[in-house]
Amino acid sequence: MGECDDCCDNCRWKDFWWFVLCLAILVVIVVVIVLVVAFGFVRQVSITVDDASLTRLALVSTPTTALAYNLSLTLSIRNPNWAMSAKNTEPLEAAYAFDGQQFDRVQLADKGAAHGAKKTVLYKLTSGSGAAYVALGNAGVAEFKAQNATGVFEVEVAVSGEVKYTARVSKCKIQAKCPLKLQLVPTGQAAPAAVVFQKVKCKLEKADKTC
Ligand SMILES: *[C@@H]1O[C@H](CO)[C@@H](O)[C@H](O)[C@H]1NC(C)=O
Ligand SMILES: *[C@@H]1O[C@H](CO)[C@@H](O)[C@H](O)[C@H]1NC(C)=O
Repeated sequence: MGECDDCCDNCRWKDFWWFVLCLAILVVIVVVIVLVVAFGFVRQVSITVDDASLTRLALVSTPTTALAYNLSLTLSIRNPNWAMSAKNTEPLEAAYAFDGQQFDRVQLADKGAAHGAKKTVLYKLTSGSGAAYVALGNAGVAEFKAQNATGVFEVEVAVSGEVKYTARVSKCKIQAKCPLKLQLVPTGQAAPAAVVFQKVKCKLEKADKTC
């Protein structure tokens, strides 16, 4: 009798330790999976232009070809990663171009600024110039006149930057293009009923393999 009880106690203890061991292995596996899902893969940011308005765009030809403009827009940038925040390793910028020629560049956030995980940041940009230099050439001037006649201008916003994500070594470039069609509505003038800015999704350049 006594001998048998001993044996069964032993078995119970053995079972118990096996159970603990299995549980520990399971916990380690789950932790590894969570870490891989959280930090193993980067999902690219998504960028949209939520709103934009052009109140001035005119050609200035003396002393050199330039654009006088006033443009305001709302850029929305989302970091879809749930555990990794993105820290700028280069300043985040938006460049404006007409007919492929850049005429201005604005900074959205400086080097070192962080963008939290799962966060969407809105950048409200208002910029203008009496004469922003632009290398249009006569082809560009002709294109300007053609668009000017319609009152709708095609302006491209290019977003560029570089970020490093939490717990990752490599840096990832951000390069996106947002083609906008903007109806010119001078300040003080009521916008035609048809002018409703449709949200534009920016096209991102493919990320590096390590990003
Ligand atoms: C347009 O831009 C110019 C900068 O050249 C600025 O002085 C002016 O206040 C701006 N106008 C509006 C309505 O934002
Ligand atoms: C653009 O159009 C406006 C009127 O809509 C006109 O006054 C202006 O001269 C035009 N500019 C150019 C460069 O064609």
